Amino acid sequence: TPAPVLTLDGPGGAGKGTVARAVARELGWHLLDSGAIYRLLALAAERAGVDVDDVPGLLRVARGMRLEFRPRADGGTEVRLDGEEVSTEIRSEACGERASRLAVLPAVREALLARQRDFREPPGLVADGRDMGTVVFPDAEVKVFLTASAEERARRRHKQLKEQGLGGNLTDLLREITARDERDANREVAPLVPAGDAVTIDTTGVPVESVVAQVMSRVRERL
Ligand code: C5P
Repeated sequence: TPAPVLTLDGPGGAGKGTVARAVARELGWHLLDSGAIYRLLALAAERAGVDVDDVPGLLRVARGMRLEFRPRADGGTEVRLDGEEVSTEIRSEACGERASRLAVLPAVREALLARQRDFREPPGLVADGRDMGTVVFPDAEVKVFLTASAEERARRRHKQLKEQGLGGNLTDLLREITARDERDANREVAPLVPAGDAVTIDTTGVPVESVVAQVMSRVRERL
């Protein structure tokens, strides 16, 4: 039987990344940051001069890009594209925006499926994204959908970006986050919606430790 999976889906800034890292560490499971894969394709395409709506070009780039994810001592992940460290570069809002534009294309999503499913290895996987519970791992043992108000998500993104030395003002971020939500929620394929069997946790004003504890108790109930 395949390794167990915990899926954490939700809009940007809902706290999925932080919660996924903490839960993966507690369980000793692998971690999939699927958004990073879309961001890496966005960066690889940009470097290759391929537009975000050029499907054959994107598929060519997707097939050719070499991705590496290495756990860092601080709990973060070092991300490499064709051998080059790009961990900070892919976090820019510009890259997120490009990622969400190419993420609407069904053929592109299909091309990235196997790369995501490859992360499912014993003893288990915590998968963070938009369609982890609905499309990529529909048979996951535990499915969680994290939300928070747009204002709170913009504040969290702002803080994260600042910590990484990336700029951005709060008003612009709020506008970008809302636009990205809209695109992610309204696309035809793999839209951002909770799986029918997901539990939704609203993290607005909730400390991260408490969200982690809720998710952990859910996992312990199911395994
Ligand atoms: O989560 P993150 O902000 O890194 O994701 C960047 C973009 O990649 C999202 O806005 C979304 O459009 C896309 N994405 C997706 N499916 C996933 C993860 C990310 O469509 N599973």
